[in-house]
Amino acid sequence: MKNKITLDLNERSYDIIIGSNIINELAHFLSEKKYSKIIVISDKNVNEIYRDYITDVIKNHESVVVDAGEQAKSFKVLEQVCEEILQKNIDRKTLLIAFGGGVVGDLTGFVASILLRGIDFIQIPTTLLAMVDSSVGGKTAINSIAGKNLIGSFYQPKLVLIELEFLKTLPIREFRSGYAEILKYGLIADKKFFQYLQKNYLRFFNNDQEIILEVVKKCCEIKAQIVGNDEKESSAIGSRALLNFGHSFAHVFEADLNYSNLMLHGEAVAIGMIMAIKMSQNLGFIKQVDFDEVEFHLKQCGFEIDIKKFKKNWSLSNLIANLYKDKKVENGNLVFILLSEIGQAFVKKDISLSEFEKVMSNFL
Ligand SMILES: NC(=O)c1ccc[n+]([C@@H]2O[C@H](COP(=O)([O-])OP(=O)(O)OC[C@H]3O[C@@H](n4cnc5c(N)ncnc54)[C@H](O)[C@@H]3O)[C@@H](O)[C@H]2O)c1
Repeated sequence: MKNKITLDLNERSYDIIIGSNIINELAHFLSEKKYSKIIVISDKNVNEIYRDYITDVIKNHESVVVDAGEQAKSFKVLEQVCEEILQKNIDRKTLLIAFGGGVVGDLTGFVASILLRGIDFIQIPTTLLAMVDSSVGGKTAINSIAGKNLIGSFYQPKLVLIELEFLKTLPIREFRSGYAEILKYGLIADKKFFQYLQKNYLRFFNNDQEIILEVVKKCCEIKAQIVGNDEKESSAIGSRALLNFGHSFAHVFEADLNYSNLMLHGEAVAIGMIMAIKMSQNLGFIKQVDFDEVEFHLKQCGFEIDIKKFKKNWSLSNLIANLYKDKKVENGNLVFILLSEIGQAFVKKDISLSEFEKVMSNFL
C-alpha cells in the first residue's frame, strides 16, 4: 500500500511517499544517492520508542537527539546540534534525516540549510501534524524571543517519507491536534473533502488505515499544489498564505501561554479557525450556518472550543500585542485569511483592530 505525490518545484522537486510499511522506500532512495554519511535527528520521546527500529532500517547512521517539545526550536539547541554534527566530520555529501514531529522537522531543515551552506535532508514525519503539514513545503525555522518561527529559511527536503505505522504510538491528544490542520485543508480549499471528513471522522479516529491513507494523501496533494504555485508565500493573490487560515488567532493564544503544552498547536488552530469564520461572518462574507457546521464538527471530534477552558482571564491587551508581533501584519495593517464559503478562502489585508476586538468579545 503505497502512494506517491510529486511536489513540483523544477530542480528542487521531490517525492512524498505515503503508506503503511513503506520504510523500505528509504533504502531504495539511499541506494541511488550514495551519501557519505547519514545523521538521524530525533527527539528524546521518539528516540526512546524508535531507536531500535531506526538502527534496523538505517544502516551505519549516526544520531543526534534533542529534548522533546517546542523549546528545541531555539538558538541554543540549534547551536548544540550544529556543533555536534560538525564534530562528526561531515562533508557536503552528508544527509540529515528529520525523524520526528514538526519540531524536529523544522529544526533539522534549518540546520541542513545552514551547515556547509546547505546539505541534503529528508523528512520522516512521525506525528499526524508533521505528516499532513510541516514535513511538506520547505518552511524551516526556530523561534525567537520576539516570536515563533521568526528565524528560518525556505529549504526543501529531497524526500518526504510518510510511514503511517508511526501513528500507532502517537498519543490521542497529539493525533487530534493534527486533525485540526487536516480540517483546515477542507475549509480553505475543498468543500468535498470537508464533507468527506464529516462523514468519515469516526473511522479516522478509530484508526481505519484506508481512511487515514486517503486523508493524509489528500492533505499532501493540496499542500503540494499550493506550495508548487507559491513556494515562498509571495504570490499577489497569496495562495500559500491561505495555509495560515486560523493561525493568526491561534498564535496570539499560543504566545500568551509561551507555546507550552497547555495548548497544543492544533488545539489553538481549531479555535483560531472558528474565530476566523466568525470574523468572516461579522464582515458579511459567510453565513451563520457554515459557522455552526464547523463548530459542530470540531466538537464531534472532541476539540475544546471554549478558549476560557485553557485559561480563565485572558488579557485583551496582551493578545493584541501578540497579534502585532505576528508575521501576518503588513505595514501595520492586519491581514487575516477569511472564508467566503466552506472550501473557499481569501486574503483580507485591511482589517481594523476593532474587527479583531469584536471577535474576541464573542469568545473571551
Ligand atoms: N514547517 C511548517 O510548514 C510547519 C507547519 C505546521 C507546524 N509547524 C511546526 O510544527 C511544530 C509542531 O509539530 P508537532 O505537532 O509534530 O509537535 P512535536 O514535534 O513537538 O511532537 C509532538 C509530541 O509527540 C511526540 N511524538 C512524535 N512522534 C511520535 C510518535 N510517533 N509516537 C509517540 N510520540 C511521538 C514528540 O516527542 C512530542 O512530544 C511547531 O513547532 C510548529 O511551528 C511547522
